[in-house]
Amino acid sequence: MCSFALKFAFSNTSMITIKDKQFEPFIHHEQIADRVAALAERLNADYQGKNPILIAILNGAFMFAADLVRHLNFNHEIQFAKFSSYDGMDTTGKVTELIGLSIDLKDRDVIVVEDIIDTGTTMYSLLPKLREKGAKSVEIAALLMKPGKLQVPIDVKYCAMQIPNEFIVGYGLDFDGMGRNYQDIYVVKEN
Ligand code: IMP
Ligand code: MG
Repeated sequence: MCSFALKFAFSNTSMITIKDKQFEPFIHHEQIADRVAALAERLNADYQGKNPILIAILNGAFMFAADLVRHLNFNHEIQFAKFSSYDGMDTTGKVTELIGLSIDLKDRDVIVVEDIIDTGTTMYSLLPKLREKGAKSVEIAALLMKPGKLQVPIDVKYCAMQIPNEFIVGYGLDFDGMGRNYQDIYVVKEN
């Protein structure tokens, strides 16, 4: 299990407002960078000589995937897939495949690159599909996890940080499509 993200006190970074919600600073970009680099080191140790295929899940994982691959020192390919399970701040529980996976995964080692595991529904429905396509191995590399919200049995082998059951934005993660641009991660402030 990945270790907890440390909340930090910003002196000069302010709150952000998206629609009717206020968000306060939560995870500093330097901590994100350190944890992403540490996760990449584990992949570097485990995947030498294996030529895996990384499947980054859009939209949320775009920033994490871009930073992660810059630390990888083994040959690999990267593809992007898009699913949808979220509506505003609540998971809909329904996962729809939006952009299918056209690549041949037969006998490939697959690493799914995901921004955050919340209920786990998205990964739980995706993993069997990848195995059906003949993948030799399938592992998850997630930036974040909310273990307290997990509703399905999934094994997240590679995870950079875990957080409590709170809604966050920034570093690729959005609230209603906005807030992906921030280099730090912010948490919703309950009024
Ligand atoms: P799950 O299927 O419930 O695990 O939901 C996973 C997806 O929900 C992630 O890929 C995110 O896109 C989205 N998500 C979950 N928690 C958050 C959050 O706190 N902020 C933004 N998006 C989130
Ligand atoms: Mg996502």
